[in-house]
Amino acid sequence: MKRLEGKVALVTGAGSGFGLGIAEKFAAEGAKVAIVDIKEEAAKAAAHQVGASALGLAADVSKTADVKAAVQKTVDAFGRLDIVVNNAGISHRNRPMLEVDEEEFDRVFAVNVKSIYLFAQAAVPVMRGQGGGVFINVGSTAGIRPRPGLTWYNGTKGAVHLISKSMAVELAPDRIRVCALAPVAGETPLLATFMGEDTPQKREQFINSIPLGRFSKPEDIANAALYLASDEASMITGVVLEVDGGRCI
Ligand SMILES: NC(=O)c1ccc[n+]([C@@H]2O[C@H](COP(=O)([O-])OP(=O)(O)OC[C@H]3O[C@@H](n4cnc5c(N)ncnc54)[C@H](O)[C@@H]3O)[C@@H](O)[C@H]2O)c1
Repeated sequence: MKRLEGKVALVTGAGSGFGLGIAEKFAAEGAKVAIVDIKEEAAKAAAHQVGASALGLAADVSKTADVKAAVQKTVDAFGRLDIVVNNAGISHRNRPMLEVDEEEFDRVFAVNVKSIYLFAQAAVPVMRGQGGGVFINVGSTAGIRPRPGLTWYNGTKGAVHLISKSMAVELAPDRIRVCALAPVAGETPLLATFMGEDTPQKREQFINSIPLGRFSKPEDIANAALYLASDEASMITGVVLEVDGGRCI
């Protein structure tokens, strides 16, 4: 028996990086998957890559109408919605905190944090109607052990972690579980933004800060998401699971 047989999942930011890895893993384990990304081409290409059980949807996760439409289209296509993975995220480039302007600050909070509010508004009623569901919110080691130069991004991830715990206690009576993942720096297009500059020296400096001695990979994050989304984790809610090679010890 596949671990997500019969489940319907929606994964945001699944046109690339961790989200794509999560969508691929979920589909391989039997889920039907809505792949949501602000880049329409990327969403469609990812859905094509994942196969017949996937649907590619263009949406900006910081926009109410887009989020509502993505949830509605998923339910229309697959008949239900069991798992929402709030993975889409952005950062300002690593630089001194006072150099990040207000517009960029607002955008990082809208994409990383407001999106969770919007998906809760759209998906909780669906899950309540079905008798349960799971949210997995992608936080970061940045929200536990912050690095300099990423102050405002770090703050969004601290918010992701606390919102996940608070949603978990508030939604537990509805049998809706809410967990967060805290990946360490990973091999995705976002990595250069976190490092400030992608040089062999910077890579070495980051890797030296991770006890297991490597960057995380989409498959590492997907394996953790799979466990938390599956019924194997039915007694687990409100955790922030570090997928970090020991970075936060
Ligand atoms: N890569 C890392 O080092 C790392 C470490 C810890 C946490 N994270 C988190 O993991 C998540 C995924 O990051 P990634 O590294 O895979 O990045 P990525 O840039 O490869 O993927 C992010 C995807 O989100 C999409 N996206 C961006 N803004 C969007 C929006 N407004 N609406 C919908 N889609 C949008 C992008 O088009 C992209 O496809 C993010 O939340 C990030 O903060 C990443």
